[in-house]
Amino acid sequence: MSDSKAAVAKVQSGKPVIGRLVVIGLGLIGGSFAKGLRERGLCREVVGVDLDPQSRRLAVELGVVDRCEEQLAAACQGAALIQLAVPILAMEKLLGELARLELGDAVLTDVGSAKGNVVRAARLAFGDVPVRFVPGHPIAGSEQSGVEAANGELFRRHKVILTPLEQTDPQAVQLVDRLWRELGADVEHMQVEHHDQVLAATSHLPHLLAFGLVDSLAKRSENLEIFRYAAGGFRDFTRIAGSDPVMWHDIFLANREAVLHTLDMFRDDLDALRNAVDAGDGHHLLGVFTRARVAREHFSKILARRAYVDAMHSNDLIFLANPGGKLSGRIRVPGDKSISHRSIMLGSLANGTTEVEGFLEGEDALATLQAFRDMGVVIEGPHHGRVTIHGVGLHGLQAPPGPIYLGNSGTSMRLLAGLLAGQAFDTTLTGDASLSKRPMNRVAKPLSEMGAVIETGAEGRPPLTIRGGQRLTGMSYEMPMASAQVKSCLLLAGLYAAGTTSVTEPAPTRDHTERMLRGFGYPVAVDDNTASLESGHELTATHIEVPADISSAAFFLVAGSIAEGSELVLEHVGINPTRTGVIDILRLMGGDISLENQREVGGEPVADIRVRSAKLKGIEIPEHLVPLAIDEFPVLFVAAACAEGRTVLRGAEELRVKESDRIQVMADGLLTLGVKVEPTPDGIVIDGGAIGGGEVYSHGDHRIAMSFSVASLRASAPIRIHDCANVATSFPNFLALAAQVGIRVAEEGRS
Ligand code: S3P
Repeated sequence: MSDSKAAVAKVQSGKPVIGRLVVIGLGLIGGSFAKGLRERGLCREVVGVDLDPQSRRLAVELGVVDRCEEQLAAACQGAALIQLAVPILAMEKLLGELARLELGDAVLTDVGSAKGNVVRAARLAFGDVPVRFVPGHPIAGSEQSGVEAANGELFRRHKVILTPLEQTDPQAVQLVDRLWRELGADVEHMQVEHHDQVLAATSHLPHLLAFGLVDSLAKRSENLEIFRYAAGGFRDFTRIAGSDPVMWHDIFLANREAVLHTLDMFRDDLDALRNAVDAGDGHHLLGVFTRARVAREHFSKILARRAYVDAMHSNDLIFLANPGGKLSGRIRVPGDKSISHRSIMLGSLANGTTEVEGFLEGEDALATLQAFRDMGVVIEGPHHGRVTIHGVGLHGLQAPPGPIYLGNSGTSMRLLAGLLAGQAFDTTLTGDASLSKRPMNRVAKPLSEMGAVIETGAEGRPPLTIRGGQRLTGMSYEMPMASAQVKSCLLLAGLYAAGTTSVTEPAPTRDHTERMLRGFGYPVAVDDNTASLESGHELTATHIEVPADISSAAFFLVAGSIAEGSELVLEHVGINPTRTGVIDILRLMGGDISLENQREVGGEPVADIRVRSAKLKGIEIPEHLVPLAIDEFPVLFVAAACAEGRTVLRGAEELRVKESDRIQVMADGLLTLGVKVEPTPDGIVIDGGAIGGGEVYSHGDHRIAMSFSVASLRASAPIRIHDCANVATSFPNFLALAAQVGIRVAEEGRS
């Protein structure tokens, strides 16, 4: 079937949403809008208007429109929707002509790349902006132009920004919104001024630079020479200088103010770069280049999560874990998450250059790293776990350019809250959906007692806005819960507080902050269950070797224990006594775990851990071990499900406020797999027995996703685990290592 016949067939089967669509201006954008809606049968009739007779003829021949009119008045009479797709500088004249016509109930919309001038023109033409005018801007284009390039799929997965005014009729907005969505576009609404500023920075400025650079080089006498040797960089940077000059000339005239504003800011930054080159200031250059490199990756990641989520391409990453298997081999799991976070924080606040090895390149630790880059710290890497931090001293951080986005990372947010409470500038900390639900009053309250000013979202949740320039005073704080994050937060605030800050914990929690502060030469007193420090000292750069994370090793400790015939060695694992609860609990259950080659590296004890399969039995988990195994319970529940008899956990209500409610989410999943479990307010009761297969949900919690992967070793059928993308927060190469040692888990659709 020819293209136009196919379109006609669809027109007949589709359900029209509107009567007549009139598209004025049959170029690439107007033509594609008309063609896409016509092909989908969403308009009873599509009428084109264009000054050029050739375009009108082609539009009909190519099935872009049903028919064309030469006269605007004839086309618009009785129209339901009028799309203005003429060049932006022609908008004013067109709106003037439309204002003289009887438009009835027609909704007006446009596709101009700048919105302020279109709105101004509409106001001028009509006396006020018509309530049924919905200004819009599809961010789509191609190097092709003209109606012959019209493509009904052009807007699929492209952004369309609508900028309705306060008085705009919501029904008109809804209609325009719906039609763009029908074309596959990702529609967003924005204020006119905001649109123009954003576009000036992200689109108009780069075009100006590309045109300007090519012209500047081409003018020089040696231009032939320059272009002959122009390699990939020049070609990539200047690709957009091949765009339509007339269209771009129009855009710069239309969006003058916003372009000037962003251009002036860029000129200052360019001057600073020039001065750095002139002065041989490599530190400045390295700072700009490292920040720019990661900013590009960081932004595209944030965008990728939000931008292209549709029903077909949801971002639900599914793990499929096939039953059975036994483990063997030697592996090193990635670096410790807690220590990685702290290495960036203290390295940034130190005087001198700190080298880190074994840094965890997971999203959580990278969020901390990015936060310090945002505050002006030059950080090189990470590259194969190596990071070089050019410390700025305790008082050298600078205000970040905007809110600091911390993704899924509770540790980043809580520790940073303390550190930022003592700075001279304001900061706002935000996070993803999971982090946005986590309690922050546990840090905001004691910090405000020290004199900090912190605003939280509803019920003490993120975002946090931390006011700078406050005078903090040290205090003695008795923590109501055993939390290393709260303890660390207050100690970091204590670096900036007058006098002494002491934190007393109800039970021992991980002490990496205290150890690392000492490693940086900062005195910390630890007396029984109280850690104290005084302000007024300095941190001196050091070398940090991050051991492998026992919380990541835990998945393999349980896996090796429950899969018959297994023997596995986990190398160079941190065995800080505040973290080894998982080993103690597994041993109490009958696990066969031995520590080899014990040594101390940079103030932290490490060992190679050998695990062999064992017949596990259910136990009552001693409450004092709860904080020492706080992150390992999801996988310990899997061990309990494989053990003979009943396992009872109490005193672990903290599990309900981790990346997910780990008691409920694990109970739900285990129940699905046929395990007998009973969640309680502060723990769980699990009766070991057979494990079946089924569909479970990790609720975006990395440790839940990995725990159910381990459960497959003893399952009788496959386990499908939903929502696994966040495994990358703490254990980016989990699937590869799991497969290497014999766990049959992979992304669904890949083996
Ligand atoms: C952490 C402390 C623990 C732990 C988290 C990391 C830290 O949280 O669950 O994964 O690095 O200080 P709490 O202190 O809230 O228990």
